[in-house]
Amino acid sequence: MAADRLSLGQDGRSGAAHPYPFRVSSPVPDLDALRALGPAQQPDYPDRAAVDAAVARLRTMPPLVFAGECDELKDKVAAVSRGEAFMLMGGDCAETFAGVTADNVRNKLRVLLQMAVVLTYAASVPVVKVGRIAGQYAKPRSSDFETREGVTLPAYRGDAVNGFDFTAEARVPDPQRLVDVYNSSAATLNLVRAFVTGGYADLRQVHTWNTDFVRESSVGQRYELVAAEIDRALTFMQAIGADPDEFHRVDFHTCHEGLVLDYEHAMTRIDSRTQTPYDVSAHFVWIGERTRQLDGAHVELFRHIRNPIGVKLGPSTTADDALALAAKLNPDNEPGRLTFITRFGAGRIRDGLPDLVEKVTASGVEVAWVCDPMHGNTFEASSGYKTRRFDDVVDEIKGFFEVHRALDTWPGGVHVELTGDDVTECVGGGEELAEVDLGSRYESVCDPRLNRVQSLELAFLVAEMLRNA
Ligand code: PEP
Ligand code: CO
Repeated sequence: MAADRLSLGQDGRSGAAHPYPFRVSSPVPDLDALRALGPAQQPDYPDRAAVDAAVARLRTMPPLVFAGECDELKDKVAAVSRGEAFMLMGGDCAETFAGVTADNVRNKLRVLLQMAVVLTYAASVPVVKVGRIAGQYAKPRSSDFETREGVTLPAYRGDAVNGFDFTAEARVPDPQRLVDVYNSSAATLNLVRAFVTGGYADLRQVHTWNTDFVRESSVGQRYELVAAEIDRALTFMQAIGADPDEFHRVDFHTCHEGLVLDYEHAMTRIDSRTQTPYDVSAHFVWIGERTRQLDGAHVELFRHIRNPIGVKLGPSTTADDALALAAKLNPDNEPGRLTFITRFGAGRIRDGLPDLVEKVTASGVEVAWVCDPMHGNTFEASSGYKTRRFDDVVDEIKGFFEVHRALDTWPGGVHVELTGDDVTECVGGGEELAEVDLGSRYESVCDPRLNRVQSLELAFLVAEMLRNA
């Protein structure tokens, strides 16, 4: 279908013979070719013409990020794989259109900035900041359906696909929502860019990030001590005449799961500098645990785009699976291109991860290792809420550090689901949130997130682990 072809620029690659079997030497496949691969976890749209119209509209929209920014992030991820930096990825499990408000975006940014300051200061390691933000609207589901009190409806697949309300109308997949994803992402990103360059992220503001309920908590007070030390250091630097640009702004990047192929394909463009394709919907995109089939459509699209990318690896992943993914997704073994985000669960990481890391490392594959301590640790509380124990989250990260220390490899980062608000979704932490408390402020439309106090506590604990890594 002509409308599905990439229309911006030409594929200028030489196509010369190359020793790697999977080298990107063909243009990005069109959408029909991807659909022919039977991609997992796609919306079952009732109206194909409406999908084509939404995709055609998206193809006319400007990029949300620039390819050059993606390259900058790739360089930073390369530093992570060399053991010279640590990656902090975090944000909602599922963003919502209604959640695109100034307060909400600022609060998420603020907790990420606070965590990054703690990690940078306490561990003296550069922190690469990547928000699960401005595009994280589509969710893979274990079950296609949801049943409540005898009524069965299609599962909610994120605001990108259908509505959260438990009604038959809301649950019908609507492709116009893909255009809404673009607009919501653009509005969010606009705010993020203003915050990170417009003074809010100035290191002089470290104290002001520590406001409201957090300031009163014990971890908030611990943060104040760090902030006070940073203040003193800044005053000293200023007194000697040093005031680099880095003190006044931060590098912040965006990421999301590249799940709905209609959207990600429509947002894939040929970069005018390099004549190669980038998914310009975010700096970093990842393939989820449920869509990482080697011959699947997600891997096929991702092997063509030049962004830094991630793949989630659950406990069933073998070293051969990981090596095959690396060969296909990063045939040139380009540093910074590939991040493996492991999510084994606290109970399995110490047994499962070593073989993977050892074999991948032994075969010389360039990869950044990041720990997602959330998705292997979800359970249903007696009250019926989906939750996670703060202690399990911490224990999985501990296991991750232990495995890497034993193998002399670098624990490159963490990938967490969090929010800037005072929600009650994960149990435990210094405030000792109990299962019975979950109902008081449970707002996630998908997985349970760490609240701001829990997130900051986690940052201090990870900083300690990093100091000994
Ligand atoms: C997620 O990151 O929200 C997610 C669904 O992860 P996974 O693919 O690892 O299950
Ligand atoms: Co999730």
